[in-house]
Amino acid sequence: MTKIDRANFGSKLGVILASAGSAVGLGNIWRFPYETGNHGGAAFILIYLGCVFLLGLPILIAEFLIGRRSRANTAGAYQKLAPGTHWRWVGRMGVLAAFLILSYYSVVAGWTLEYVYEALTNGFTGKTPTEFISSFQQFSSSPWRPVLWLVLFLLVTHFIIVKGVEKGIEKSSKIMMPTLFIIILILVICSVTLPGAGAGIEFLLKPDFSKVDGNVFLSAMGQAFFSLSLGMGCLCTYASYFSKETNLTKTAFSVGIIDTFVAVLAGFIIFPAAFSVGIQPDAGPSLIFITLPNVFQQAFSGVPILAYIFSVMFYVLLAMAALTSTISLHEVVTAYLHEEFNFTRGKAARLVTGGCIFLGILCSLSLGVMKGFTIFGLGIFDLFDFVTAKIMLTLGGLCISIFTGWYLDKKIVWSEITNDGSLKVPVYKLIIFILRYIAPIAISLIFINELGLIKL
Ligand code: PHE
Repeated sequence: MTKIDRANFGSKLGVILASAGSAVGLGNIWRFPYETGNHGGAAFILIYLGCVFLLGLPILIAEFLIGRRSRANTAGAYQKLAPGTHWRWVGRMGVLAAFLILSYYSVVAGWTLEYVYEALTNGFTGKTPTEFISSFQQFSSSPWRPVLWLVLFLLVTHFIIVKGVEKGIEKSSKIMMPTLFIIILILVICSVTLPGAGAGIEFLLKPDFSKVDGNVFLSAMGQAFFSLSLGMGCLCTYASYFSKETNLTKTAFSVGIIDTFVAVLAGFIIFPAAFSVGIQPDAGPSLIFITLPNVFQQAFSGVPILAYIFSVMFYVLLAMAALTSTISLHEVVTAYLHEEFNFTRGKAARLVTGGCIFLGILCSLSLGVMKGFTIFGLGIFDLFDFVTAKIMLTLGGLCISIFTGWYLDKKIVWSEITNDGSLKVPVYKLIIFILRYIAPIAISLIFINELGLIKL
């Protein structure tokens, strides 16, 4: 089944950093804080943690085993493991989800570049909180500047993808991920020591369950799937480049822990800072673009050079985190076109980049000149986010758990998780139990509840 000429990651560390690179991204630093802010803080985080560890990790292991066993792109994987069945639609839905996510994700990734530029050219100096809000609104709704950054971001992603798996994806992750951890730690320390930061810390640690309803569960589950890059074959595609020796369970745990750690730390950067300067935690998607520049100005008002260094560092961090994720999204679609349609890797990548530039421009314009154009009451940007994170990924997760728990030959599952019996995996039975029962039931209930068919 293994094709000899297929690319592979070169090292164990490379495997973990590339997978964690996919997982850690704007989902952790941009989306997690505003979802937490919108859904009441600590209570949302608790439900989120439950979703990550109870549902997310077993499904992550399932994706890994599907990818490594088939050694194919995500649509090809189902074709190989379940030939002639409709399971291939799960893979195809994943490819579509990757394409849609990459389109709107690149818009926000582009914003990070504008903010790196602003930070570098001292554009934040002397601005008041209201000026930060209005300049973000002006920028994100303008018709051309965000579009230029989005195109640039996609071109950088494209450049890394055409370099291939080991020299492109693995090498860039090995440089970017450790840098990112260091910057995050410095920023947490800086944020929690601001005057008035205590209210933000309390918001993160003291759960208020009065805000919890069915929607909070769907949002937390959607966020967990989005943040772990689950439900759409991203980590399944990466796992197709893993070696026979990779311990899938351990790798999944490492990725889950790194991802959760970064999300929670991002919370500890944003909320203490937001409360300290009096910005509401439920500011939505613009949260990190209006709070942070403000914070750096106020926190280091006496030492402008520090304000400058921290602003640059934060937005560079954000751009890097986004880049390791856009690479993984791009790879899902590129590998699919390359392997299923026999395009060269270069041509496949060009098609993906071109298509995403087109859709990305529509997403970007939907926040400005095309604001009036809505489908089901949502602009294109919000629609892509809703349809992917809350519907396609969770539905994908449901299908993956049923596929692995019920359809796939138990011997295949066992031999992949234990590397043909050479590894002891004490949680093996638990993983299988979750994939067979807990995940399908929990995901279905949250869905049905949200659709209003039953009320929990
Ligand atoms: N997990 C990434 C993040 O948190 C986003 C992503 C979603 C990447 C799905 C790949 C697939 O930013």
